[in-house]
Amino acid sequence: MFKSVMQLSLFSFLLSLLAFAYALPVAIRDVFVPPVTSPTTGTVWTVGSQQNVTWDTSNAPAQITNKKGQVVLAKDGRLDIENPLASDFDILQGWVTVTVPDVTPDIDYTIVLFGDSGNDSGVFAIMPSVQAV
Ligand SMILES: *[C@@H]1O[C@H](CO)[C@@H](O)[C@H](O)[C@H]1NC(C)=O
Ligand SMILES: *[C@@H]1O[C@H](CO)[C@@H](O)[C@H](O)[C@H]1NC(C)=O
Repeated sequence: MFKSVMQLSLFSFLLSLLAFAYALPVAIRDVFVPPVTSPTTGTVWTVGSQQNVTWDTSNAPAQITNKKGQVVLAKDGRLDIENPLASDFDILQGWVTVTVPDVTPDIDYTIVLFGDSGNDSGVFAIMPSVQAV
């Protein structure tokens, strides 16, 4: 008896979740903000090296408003929008290779992945290339 009451309320709870999801405007449902899986906190990039930026595409909605992605470097939270590391790639690909620009070596870099919206990576470091030292 108790169990079936539980099941019933779980069922109606799921139903109301569904109703809520379908009540959302299409534009909101289709916004895809994949979490960045690399670089992560503690990653070290070397100036001039090639690095893969990766993100999780497993929760991609069937319809995405903007399939073109862009990767922007940020230092201490300030985005360098003018010089994206990569742009115009397919956001569903899940990764893109970038060349680390010749920036001031520091430990407060993040990248922001833009599709419909942006999501940032963990804070990582960029170190000078061996030749530059
Ligand atoms: C951004 O990514 C994090 C994980 O890195 C995730 O927890 C969060 O939900 C994402 N933000 C949005 C708006 O989806
Ligand atoms: C980036 O990932 C792709 C696909 O997994 C792989 O082919 C490529 O070698 C990687 N590049 C780097 C620099 O890690």
